[in-house]
Amino acid sequence: MIRTFEMCDVDEVVAVHISSFPGFFLSFLGSRFLSLFYSGICAAPEGICFVYLNEASRPAGFVAGSSNPSGFYSRLLKRCWFKFALASIGPILNKPSIIKRVARAMLLPSRNPVGEHVAGLFSIGVCPELQGAGAGKKLVQAFLNEAQNRGCKRVFLSTDRDNNEVVNQFYLDCGFIVERQYVTPEERRMNEFWITLPAFLG
Ligand SMILES: CC(C)(COP(=O)(O)OP(=O)(O)OC[C@H]1O[C@@H](n2cnc3c(N)ncnc32)[C@H](O)[C@@H]1OP(=O)(O)O)[C@@H](O)C(=O)NCCC(=O)NCCS
Repeated sequence: MIRTFEMCDVDEVVAVHISSFPGFFLSFLGSRFLSLFYSGICAAPEGICFVYLNEASRPAGFVAGSSNPSGFYSRLLKRCWFKFALASIGPILNKPSIIKRVARAMLLPSRNPVGEHVAGLFSIGVCPELQGAGAGKKLVQAFLNEAQNRGCKRVFLSTDRDNNEVVNQFYLDCGFIVERQYVTPEERRMNEFWITLPAFLG
């Protein structure tokens, strides 16, 4: 039911992202932008990504991140900044007020925590019809196993602190702990969760 996320899965993963993150900034940037984002993670040697297959063996959930998260987004943008810029034009014309946020994302260094032997879980989504049936936990488990196989000792992720109880509870249930809280330039209050992988517990 879980397998590695391949390039041929990108369109379906983008569709799952859009349905599971309605109203979020990346969804607003649209399928072209998201395709570049997920293709970039999938193609990167340090990418860790899996899909959850539904009964028809089609991707209905995904998890994506990196075993070298520090500077990951800058490297991704450097590789294909022109395509990202082109993909942003339509959304910016639709809503000019997002230009500052797009520029910040493209020009400023990412806020990913630094450190050796650390993996970052950047995105996880399960299509709304399948949520609450255990797919998310399986995806997180696959991600943690692979991070450990690659020699990572700890994994982090960030999620909204406010109006997001189910997701925060989901990560607590998966064994993550909130180690830091911060506020983004868009004034979103965030929880930064961490987990130490079982092979490295004292
Ligand atoms: C967060 C998400 C990936 C979890 O995936 P999922 O398949 O729904 O999660 P699971 O079915 O594996 O649930 C595991 C646990 O999470 C909690 N949970 C998940 N969905 C829940 C819901 N709708 N209501 C209550 N609890 C829920 C439960 O504690 C559950 O524990 P249990 O196994 O003891 O019942 C999924 O709900 C999702 O895609 N949400 C929208 C996108 C999103 O917000 N992603 C995270 C951004 S950081």
